[in-house]
Amino acid sequence: MSSFKARLALLKALLVHIPLLLKTTLLHGIQMSPVKGKQDLRTELTVAILRSFMNTRAPLGKTQRDGIRDPGVKGPMWISKVTLPQPENDVRDAVLHAIESLKTGDETYDIPEAVPVEGEWTGYRAGAGKHTKEPDLSEEEKYLKLREESPSDMTILYFHGGAYLIDIEISLLDPCSHRVPVAHLSRLTGAPAFSVRYRLAPQNPFPAALVDALTAYLSLVHPPEGSLHKPVPANKIILAGDSAGGNLSLVLLQTLLTLDRTNRTVRFHGKDVAIELPAGVATVSPWCDITRSMPSCSKNAWLDYLGASPTPSDDTPFETIPFIPDDVWPTTPPRADIFCNSTILGHPLVSPLAAPAELWKNAPPIWISMGEEGLADEGIIVGRRFHEAGVPIVAELYEGMPHCHGMLLLDTPVSHEFFKGFSEFCRDAVAGRVKSAGTLTWRSFKLRSTKEIPIEKACEVSDEEARSLMKKSADWRLKTEIEMQKEWHAKARL
Ligand SMILES: *[C@@H]1O[C@H](CO)[C@@H](O)[C@H](O)[C@H]1NC(C)=O
Ligand SMILES: *[C@@H]1O[C@H](CO)[C@@H](O)[C@H](O)[C@H]1NC(C)=O
Ligand SMILES: *[C@@H]1O[C@H](CO)[C@@H](O)[C@H](O)[C@H]1NC(C)=O
Repeated sequence: MSSFKARLALLKALLVHIPLLLKTTLLHGIQMSPVKGKQDLRTELTVAILRSFMNTRAPLGKTQRDGIRDPGVKGPMWISKVTLPQPENDVRDAVLHAIESLKTGDETYDIPEAVPVEGEWTGYRAGAGKHTKEPDLSEEEKYLKLREESPSDMTILYFHGGAYLIDIEISLLDPCSHRVPVAHLSRLTGAPAFSVRYRLAPQNPFPAALVDALTAYLSLVHPPEGSLHKPVPANKIILAGDSAGGNLSLVLLQTLLTLDRTNRTVRFHGKDVAIELPAGVATVSPWCDITRSMPSCSKNAWLDYLGASPTPSDDTPFETIPFIPDDVWPTTPPRADIFCNSTILGHPLVSPLAAPAELWKNAPPIWISMGEEGLADEGIIVGRRFHEAGVPIVAELYEGMPHCHGMLLLDTPVSHEFFKGFSEFCRDAVAGRVKSAGTLTWRSFKLRSTKEIPIEKACEVSDEEARSLMKKSADWRLKTEIEMQKEWHAKARL
């Protein structure tokens, strides 16, 4: 064993100067990969590449602009771009009402306007090859083609994730980058998907994206004049999203539940509309804790490209996100967090992990799919709370797989299994036949076996511990933010 270790150490030292991929491939080939038995070569390489990208310092504004550049539509999909007209500011006020109802202290946040919301209808286009360009048709004609090929009465309201990620093939900041997996989901369900281009942070902090999400949801149920689509009954809508988009689906759901609980109607394009709940919520590696303080964030970092999160310590201030300063970051006044003021990090509409079980009562069925990733604990705990609240849950975890693996490593057996579960859930939820086993399905490496673990036993972190870890982390960030602001005010006075 010790000679094995020595050999490994020597090998690693020798390999330092060989490019990353070669090194990963080589170690994998000789069965000395650190993730042996957990990841195959393609997964390991993908994780290695993404991890090195994540560790590259870049200006945030540029990353964002690169991420939202439209590469053009090609391949087996119909894309019809639309802009949902700006609603009354009551949509914003309804969100503020929900925030205030769930507040626990002195949370502060910005007050955005309700704005027009861009998005794209996404559907499968049969007979088109991988590189087939889209035909020269109007957005309306493309929408009609899309509906012909996606005849289901279900509609998927899709929220992309990818907070700040750059990928080599796809950039993950915008509906454009999610077209391939979303069109695939549409193919499997026969349902059109509406992918929302919500406002991004840091320019648009909490709750701007949530206001856009509510605008999109209400627009599906109550189409504003001039819409391409017909009204979609709420119980035919599935909210879906990956990563930060999984969070947005959950916080939109919590907003709807809160409005419903408090009988708040919304003035929407000239009508007072009551809140109706969607048929189900399907989340992929949902980001539920903005402070990233659950133990899996460091415990599973060796398998994931999302690195270990910083741990609170009394003497070191929270290290703010290491972007090269540019026109969008740091913000004015400076914040410690990209998405919101640090006073509100522990609010249920910012971190769904902060919502106790009773807040999920009456929720429609939920699907949570994860890898053995940094965000695994928070996904499982949120699933556990839904279950406690009596909500049907379907939860699964793929051994060794990183964040959002099913959408990243397309066309693998694991990804096929992932999409099968995803689309089955959507169909079952709309048909009102989701069977909740109350378990987490653990799928082992290469799908060799599965294990059903009762959801309440699937994560060791208790509710109490989760709360205290989040609080510690949020307080640590807030302390830094207060320091940053003092400095900023002092400079501003000069
Ligand atoms: C937080 O929110 C308030 C709005 O209440 C805003 O004025 C303030 O500057 C924000 N930013 C920080 C870092 O506190
Ligand atoms: C909401 O309406 C229902 C039925 O009309 C009523 O029973 C309930 O008390 C109301 N809740 C609130 C918070 O006003
Ligand atoms: C969840 O969504 C809200 C609303 O867009 C956002 O402000 C918040 O930062 C998100 N939280 C996480 C954990 O992504």
